[in-house]
Amino acid sequence: MRTQVGIVGAGPAGLMLSHLLHLRGVESVVIDLRTREDIEETIKAGVLEQGTVDLMTRTGVGDRMARDGFVHHGINLAFNGELHRINMYELTGGRAVTVYAQHEVLKDLIAKRLADGGDLRFGISDTAVDGITGGDSPTIRFTADGEQQTLECDFVVGADGSRTYTRGLIPQRTDFFRQYPFAWFGILAEAPPSSDELIYAHSERGFALISTRSPSVQRLYFQCDPETNVDDWSDAQIWEEIQARVAGAGATLKTGTIFQKSVLQFRSFVCEPMQYGRLYLAGDAAHTVPPTGAKGLNLAVADVHVLDRALGAFYEAKDTGLLESYTQTALGRVWRAQWFSFWMTSMLHRFSDASDFDLRRQVAELELVTSSPTAAKTLADNYTGLPLG
Ligand code: PHB
Repeated sequence: MRTQVGIVGAGPAGLMLSHLLHLRGVESVVIDLRTREDIEETIKAGVLEQGTVDLMTRTGVGDRMARDGFVHHGINLAFNGELHRINMYELTGGRAVTVYAQHEVLKDLIAKRLADGGDLRFGISDTAVDGITGGDSPTIRFTADGEQQTLECDFVVGADGSRTYTRGLIPQRTDFFRQYPFAWFGILAEAPPSSDELIYAHSERGFALISTRSPSVQRLYFQCDPETNVDDWSDAQIWEEIQARVAGAGATLKTGTIFQKSVLQFRSFVCEPMQYGRLYLAGDAAHTVPPTGAKGLNLAVADVHVLDRALGAFYEAKDTGLLESYTQTALGRVWRAQWFSFWMTSMLHRFSDASDFDLRRQVAELELVTSSPTAAKTLADNYTGLPLG
């Protein structure tokens, strides 16, 4: 079997790249260990930057998002007994975010790839990549339906998420890493929205976030110990805890039946370089951010936007310049998102060793961000996302 670009991983990075390459006439095959059902049903992030929304719309995968997603022009920061709205739309000259779940994006991309005759292989096993350096073309070997397959390609893209196999193929790399002493307890609940826009809450009990999925399904989170077992928490205790963290700012929760509970681990991670020979990493395989900035999916899309152009320049004009500078181009945005995610995290969470000094310093920072137009614009620009260029 032969293709031009072999893509390991059918997440946002892998599927979006396959879609973009198809639009410029470049062939790809996407393989994934998970089943299609698993990919389409795993609950993940939900906030799309303006650039992600524009790219999806422009490339013909934005119809359901336009119909079922929710455009938010602002977010709220809750602290010190008050709710403060950041009017992102005004501050950025017309940029917004769209709340539309990641697995819905994946459903749209999978449906489009299949409708366009794309080659997606789900539920494969035993992936092995060879020949990413040297003269021969690289190969991806894998097992599908009990049979061993060999895919020859010009390039391999490692888009296989944070538990990546492909990252390990880069022998000389530096892994930049930061751990946090907390995690998020996330729930999905059958309930009406408690707020028109997201609320990021700072409180003495720790951080809480009120997000949404639809008029009848809500997504909420609260900071917890990384060792937390979700089964130790009854529904009543969960609602009480989140309510206690937002009550000071005057928010009242509309509660309902909780139908999904999970603990999200927090880490910041970057692998440099993001390429080696004919292998290019994209998305979580190369970097992870804590969820506070809502950047994970958007960074994956931004990586493959760069990679698509670079591969396009190669196939259209035999120009390897953009491929050679892929890491450098992608890392500018990656490190900006690392800073932003870290900033939001450190401004809003309660650290276990925090003193009263630290709490007051955080409140001063939140006051700056909500009262200075310059500081508010910094938050709004980064939250809605820099243009994809
Ligand atoms: C979500 O709705 O899942 C969500 C929203 C904002 C974040 C993280 C997650 O910062």
